[in-house]
Amino acid sequence: MYFMDRSNPIGVFDSGIGGLTVVKRINSFLPNENIVYFGDTARVPYGTKSNETVTEYALQDANFLVKKNVKLIVVACNTVSSVAMDVLRKKYDIPVIGMIKPGALSAVEATKNGKIGVIGTNATINNKAYSTELKKLDKKLSVLEKACPLFVPLAEEGWTDHKATRLIAQEYLLEMREQGVDTLILGCTHYPILADVIQEVMGRSVTLIDSGTAASTIVETHLHGKGLRNISNHLGFDDFYVSDLPGKFREIAERFLGKKVENISKVDIDYITGLK
Ligand code: DGL
Repeated sequence: MYFMDRSNPIGVFDSGIGGLTVVKRINSFLPNENIVYFGDTARVPYGTKSNETVTEYALQDANFLVKKNVKLIVVACNTVSSVAMDVLRKKYDIPVIGMIKPGALSAVEATKNGKIGVIGTNATINNKAYSTELKKLDKKLSVLEKACPLFVPLAEEGWTDHKATRLIAQEYLLEMREQGVDTLILGCTHYPILADVIQEVMGRSVTLIDSGTAASTIVETHLHGKGLRNISNHLGFDDFYVSDLPGKFREIAERFLGKKVENISKVDIDYITGLK
């Protein structure tokens, strides 16, 4: 049993910088909440690894956050959300919020022609995480899925407006455009970093769904339901921990969050792997 207080932080983790897109949403939607973030930059990407490996990493990452006394865990990684939610929820008695269901719900609300595209890592697409969830919501939907693994290193590299990113996006998204999807789920938390290029390639009429936005609403509901909403009038703090290259993380985090990011610490990967 963990001691929980309203002022305890929300824990957020991802394989790298992708979860920052979720932090940005939580910051703007729940500005007085404190956040402890873990980005496993030493072991990114997760999306090319087996379900067993991803689950093992996810448990270590979540254990790190639990040691920081977080009141709720946001799995800000679609890859982990598509394979490890049951294991994580079974292990912890605090709420664990994933990306798949919130993203699927938003897409179903947004689509007008019933044609939804999903892009994600190999793991998320091969596990059919979104198509299964979408079909549960409405079995008449037509769902087109495509793994876009190169988007992760492009986002990590900060190539948000680069001709290589544009070319790769054109190649990956060709079929989505030809099939006329009107809603595209960015089924990897790294992808909102490349949203401008993706939107440009897909065309203005296509709605992009960022699961992090939808997940922030669910976080609020859970905290409220458990009486754990932070009632402080002050802006919350964000503490960041990464398993490698804190300098590069800072550069991308500041660019992406549009603010100075002071609290970044490197955690030894041996410490993380020892957290069974
Ligand atoms: N940001 C992650 C996701 O949402 C994964 C990227 C990766 O590690 O492959 O799936």
